[in-house]
Amino acid sequence: METDSAVDTTESNASHKINKYPDLECVGVIYGNVGTTSFNCRATGNMERLQYVQVEHETDGWVLGIVSEMERKTDLSIERAKMVSEGEVVPIEEKVTAKVDIIGFRDERGLLQTPRTPFRAGDLVYKAKDTLIKDVIGLKERTDTGAYIGLLLGHDIRVEIDINALVQKHVSILAKTGGGKSFLCGALIEELMKHDVTVLIIDPHGEYGSMREKGSIPQTTRNFEVTPRGYADKIIEFATDTNVNKNAIPLKFTLANLEARDLLSLTNIKNVRAYLTSLRKAIDSVRSIKKEYTLKDIINVLEADEETQNAALIAELEYLDEINIFAAKGTRIDEIVVKGKTTIINLKGTPPDIQELVVNRIATALFELRKVGKIPPMMLVVEEAHNYCPQQGLAASSKIFRTIASEGRKFGLGLTIISQRAAKVDKNVLSQCNTQMILKVTNPNDLKAIAASVEGLTAGLADEIQRLPIGVALVVGGNIQMPLLVEVRPRESKHGGESVEIVPSKRV
Ligand SMILES: Nc1ncnc2c1ncn2[C@@H]1O[C@H](COP(=O)(O)OP(=O)(O)OP(=O)(O)O)[C@@H](O)[C@H]1O
Ligand SMILES: [Mg+2]
Repeated sequence: METDSAVDTTESNASHKINKYPDLECVGVIYGNVGTTSFNCRATGNMERLQYVQVEHETDGWVLGIVSEMERKTDLSIERAKMVSEGEVVPIEEKVTAKVDIIGFRDERGLLQTPRTPFRAGDLVYKAKDTLIKDVIGLKERTDTGAYIGLLLGHDIRVEIDINALVQKHVSILAKTGGGKSFLCGALIEELMKHDVTVLIIDPHGEYGSMREKGSIPQTTRNFEVTPRGYADKIIEFATDTNVNKNAIPLKFTLANLEARDLLSLTNIKNVRAYLTSLRKAIDSVRSIKKEYTLKDIINVLEADEETQNAALIAELEYLDEINIFAAKGTRIDEIVVKGKTTIINLKGTPPDIQELVVNRIATALFELRKVGKIPPMMLVVEEAHNYCPQQGLAASSKIFRTIASEGRKFGLGLTIISQRAAKVDKNVLSQCNTQMILKVTNPNDLKAIAASVEGLTAGLADEIQRLPIGVALVVGGNIQMPLLVEVRPRESKHGGESVEIVPSKRV
């Protein structure tokens, strides 16, 4: 093995350092100046970035660290590199070095500590044992309240997030489009269903109904111990448009508490004032005869009024009526929320402004009813959250999401926010999501928004988010005290968010 001056000196100081622990695999030796939060080591065995390592501290015992950077140092100069290109045989001396960030150890009270004195140069660095990793990181496997989302990157250690913490602390799942958000969210919902947690999913693309069906698990080298199954017995699906979503129950709203201004805001009418009075009058006149009324009733009154120019308003209301979500009798919330079941609100095929209205109505009802204990504690999952609680501008549902984000936990109403644009989600909402699951993100603004919101994120890990392969998530929060890289487990049920192939790929 070639030597370098740093290792030479350390070796002379610690000439008797031989591996005292034959059951551990020695992967490096500490060299150079040694800090208390990180150190450099020379790689002498199999070492890779993001690998966990352990070093014995003179007073604190085994301490866990993670390889944050690696470098191959060589003595090949630019001039000699040219000689290589010209076919000459040039001897190259190289050494692989690594920077290790110290994570810490558990003291006798079980608290996470970091050593207060540095390790010694010449100390041996070992590949970390799973037992130490679990103990220091605080991972418990196969617990009664754990949601199993995947394996710790590179290790056969299950990462389980405590379901109570999930509901109490809110969740965000962020990644660029195609990054695997819906896939991971589906895995999380499977766990919630298994634990009989009540869930409601706002599903703008109609992706979640496929969870009724059994999935197929691809053959990989990793054994995630997942058995395919469908969840048809747990799922209730409502849709705003049952023409395109045939398996769903129609979702209907009454017009009873919608005032003229609200109704106008759902139309394309810009000049609201021009129609406000006549619409108000029409609504009042319908209300004076009927408690339960439809858009048709309002349209009839407007049509009967020949003195006012109402044609544009009538056309807009007819368009709204075609969307078919208003009815004399609305869907009751106790039909929508059923204890221990997962309800999908499928909004596929419904215009965005109507979606906002639906989401606002449902979220408001959940919050109000949860406050008085009329519905069970539950999790509200919101896909494409940037549309329903945007950072810029207002959606009909902006206000209720702020309220749920800040007060929901008090009442056992958990929120899971999913978005491909972290920077476009209302910060007041996102900042309340204390369990964060981040997959690959490349947009600089989104990366900035994420780096600012994740606690304990080192610069190295923040940088890592851009390079995450599909299927690997950075997870922190709840019972996970430090950011962890998790290989997301395969789905038990069928994933509905497959990308559509425009040109079919050739099968071989
Ligand atoms: N953990 C995983 N294991 C295997 N395949 C995965 C995993 N995560 C995602 N995929 C695959 O990647 C594709 C995109 O995943 P997904 O639909 O979850 O992305 P998304 O982030 O929700 O995208 P969008 O923003 O378009 O909704 C899917 O076809 C899915 O099969
Ligand atoms: Mg998706």
